[in-house]
Amino acid sequence: MQKITIVGLGNMGGALIRGLEKSPIRDSITVDVFDVDPGRIEAVRSGDRVKGLQSLAEVQCENNTLIFCVKPQDLPAIAQALDGRLQKTCLIVSILAGKKTATIAKELGFDGPIVRAMPNIAAVIGFAATAMCSNESCTAEHKLHAEEIFKAVGEAYWTKESLMDAVTGLSGSGPAYIYMVIEALSDGGLKMGMPRELALKLATQTVLGAAALVKHTGLHPAILKDQVTTPAGTTISALHELEERGLRSMFVNAVEKATLRSLELGKTP
Ligand SMILES: NC(=O)c1ccc[n+]([C@@H]2O[C@H](COP(=O)([O-])OP(=O)(O)OC[C@H]3O[C@@H](n4cnc5c(N)ncnc54)[C@H](OP(=O)(O)O)[C@@H]3O)[C@@H](O)[C@H]2O)c1
Repeated sequence: MQKITIVGLGNMGGALIRGLEKSPIRDSITVDVFDVDPGRIEAVRSGDRVKGLQSLAEVQCENNTLIFCVKPQDLPAIAQALDGRLQKTCLIVSILAGKKTATIAKELGFDGPIVRAMPNIAAVIGFAATAMCSNESCTAEHKLHAEEIFKAVGEAYWTKESLMDAVTGLSGSGPAYIYMVIEALSDGGLKMGMPRELALKLATQTVLGAAALVKHTGLHPAILKDQVTTPAGTTISALHELEERGLRSMFVNAVEKATLRSLELGKTP
C-alpha cells in the first residue's frame, strides 16, 4: 500500500481526495488528510482508507507522498510544524501557485523529490487541466505516481518549470476567461430577445460542445471554424466583427498579462 497525505482540504485538496477515491489507484493507496478545520477532515474521512490526522505532528515522514494544497502563504507554518523531519524517501507534491520547486525545498528543508503542479478549478468535477514539472531528484517512478494522482481529477501533462507561470496564465486562470465568454454570449442572446435561462443554457452547451469537438476530432480549431463558416453566411459576419475588435489579440494579451503577474507574485517572499 502506498501512503498519500493531503494537507489542506479546500477546493483543490477536497477535489483530489474525491478524485482519488474514484481512481484506478484507489486500492493501492491509503490516504491521510489534514486541515486546520476539523469539519473539512470529517467531510472526507472514510474508515481505514481515508484517515484524519489531528495535527501535522502525525504526518508520516518516510515513504509517503505529501500533497500540499494550502495557500502559498501557509507553507512556512507547515514547514515549521514538520520541522525538517521529511525524509528523502518522501515525494512532495505542491500545487501552490508561484512556489518554485527550489523555494519549496528550501522552505521545507527538504533535499528530495518534488513535483510542482498547476491544476485548475475544474478539478472539482474531474475535468482539470493540470501541468506538472519535477526537480532533478524525481525518478520516472515518482513522476508516474504524480501523474496518476492528477489524472484522478482530469488530464495531466509534463512541462518544464520555466513554463509554469505561463501554465498559470493559460489553464490556471483560464476558466475565468471562459466564464466571461459564456456570460457575454448569453448576454448576446438576451439582447436578441431570448429568455435569460435559455440564453445561458445555449451559451454553456455551445462552449462545452465546441471544446469537446476539438478534443474528439483532434482537428485544429481553425479547420473546425472553417467547417461552420459558409460564404456570405451568418458566422462569417460575426467572425469579421470579432477579428475587427481584436478578439484573438485580447486572449493572447490576457495570457501574457496573467503570466507576467504570476512571475511577479512568485518573486514576492
Ligand atoms: N482554486 C484554484 O483554482 C487553484 C488552481 C490551481 C492551483 N491552486 C492552488 O491550490 C492551493 C489551494 O487552493 P484552494 O483553492 O484549494 O484553497 P482553499 O480552498 O483556501 O484551501 C486551502 C485549505 O487549507 C487550509 N489550511 C490553511 N493553513 C493550513 C495548515 N497550516 N495546515 C493544513 N491546512 C491548512 C485552509 O484552511 P483555512 O481556510 O481555514 O485557512 C483551507 O481549508 C493554493 O496554493 C492555490 O494557489 C488553486
